[in-house]
Amino acid sequence: PRVRFVQQDGSGRSIEVGRDVSVMLAAVRNGIHGIDGECGGCLDCATCHVYVDEEQASSVPQPSEEELELLSAVSGERKPNSRLGCQLKVPAPLDELVVHVPARQS
Ligand code: FES
Repeated sequence: PRVRFVQQDGSGRSIEVGRDVSVMLAAVRNGIHGIDGECGGCLDCATCHVYVDEEQASSVPQPSEEELELLSAVSGERKPNSRLGCQLKVPAPLDELVVHVPARQS
């Protein structure tokens, strides 16, 4: 599967990932601008905030209570499709998950 990261200016990059790799790790490993992942994925920083593409929002599992709680601390605008990238993977059977990078993380 792949994750496509779409920036605010509409530019995008699609990256091949394993289904067990989080969106945050895929971004950090590939130098995607605008996703920091400062805590390394332990639900402590909220700098891995992304927006799941609205057409795919119902295809991804719902966030956990802990994720929802930390989502209230994101720096960018919180939307109904806001997620933390460290808690998000490409769910089967999706071949490509599209996420939008927020304007800022801190
Ligand atoms: Fe810190 Fe996701 S990487 S909360």
